[in-house]
Amino acid sequence: MAYRIKEVDASDDEIADIIRGFNREIGQFPELTDAELDGFHCHWWLAYLDKEPVGFAGVVPSQRLLNVGYLKRAGVMPAHRGHGLQVRLLKARERKARAIGWTHLVTETTNTVHSANNCIRAGFKLYEPETRWAYEHSLYWIKRI
Ligand SMILES: CC(C)(COP(=O)(O)OP(=O)(O)OC[C@H]1O[C@@H](n2cnc3c(N)ncnc32)[C@H](O)[C@@H]1OP(=O)(O)O)[C@@H](O)C(=O)NCCC(=O)NCCS
Repeated sequence: MAYRIKEVDASDDEIADIIRGFNREIGQFPELTDAELDGFHCHWWLAYLDKEPVGFAGVVPSQRLLNVGYLKRAGVMPAHRGHGLQVRLLKARERKARAIGWTHLVTETTNTVHSANNCIRAGFKLYEPETRWAYEHSLYWIKRI
């Protein structure tokens, strides 16, 4: 059995429930709103092992920067970590961002070395945004695409 990454339609209630369930299970993120799941240029992916969803990630338009996408959430269920799924979820979102015509992707990481390392693996660089939007100790990442 191999892992695969699939873009999903988060306006579908069943898919939205899976994403919301994972989001809750991870335990560190606020609830996702309907607009974040289903809004204009909000795109979501699930990672599957065979037919079982095991991870999720999204990308949405940046609220601060024009033509920039914001990587929103990423989570892999504990039993499936360490298989490189986060980088695959990053790459899938980058392909979509390029197709949309965005110029950059941005995101932040907070208290997660693994995510920071995966941003570096996917070609992101640390940067200092004009306005820091997350926590005092968050790291901010950008990639020109
Ligand atoms: C961060 C996260 C998405 C990484 O996903 P992933 O697909 O497992 O990423 P990787 O396969 O690259 O593994 C990352 C690291 O976890 C380690 N790892 C392996 N098995 C693991 C396990 N069972 N539990 C935790 N970490 C494990 C890997 O060794 C790897 O370390 P390395 O970078 O030194 O090689 C996942 O750990 C997660 O969902 N964490 C909670 C939510 C979170 O922090 N999301 C990111 C918010 S920015």
